[in-house]
Amino acid sequence: MAEGLPGWVLIGAASDIVERGAGMRFPVRERYGRQDAQLTGFVVRFEGQLYAYLNQCAHVATELDWIPGQFFESSGLYLMCATHGAIYLPENGTCTGGPCRGARLRQIDIREHQGSVYWLPDDVLAAPNPPDH
Ligand code: FES
Repeated sequence: MAEGLPGWVLIGAASDIVERGAGMRFPVRERYGRQDAQLTGFVVRFEGQLYAYLNQCAHVATELDWIPGQFFESSGLYLMCATHGAIYLPENGTCTGGPCRGARLRQIDIREHQGSVYWLPDDVLAAPNPPDH
């Protein structure tokens, strides 16, 4: 947990998240009945703001990135799913083209604090379990 931000979980350095460029993945644990699913979230920067989503396409439950951390298509205006090409508005996760038009990515609360980026777990998305020793 983040010092000074109780309940928030560190993702990484804000300076590593590039405007309309390289984003950052982070591990999340989706609570799913009695079972948990180990998934990822991602954060991108668009027009100076950070936005974070669960890394699951609204079309088929698969990760969006082309290569790890790359979510924008070539214009830098949209996020694009690598599987079938759905495009999403970076600022709200709405699919505006492709097979899931009108659906949305699941947004994750995010905060920039003293040069680092943090996300906030909720009733469904939790921090990953610490590794076994
Ligand atoms: S899985 Fe993303 S567009 Fe089909």
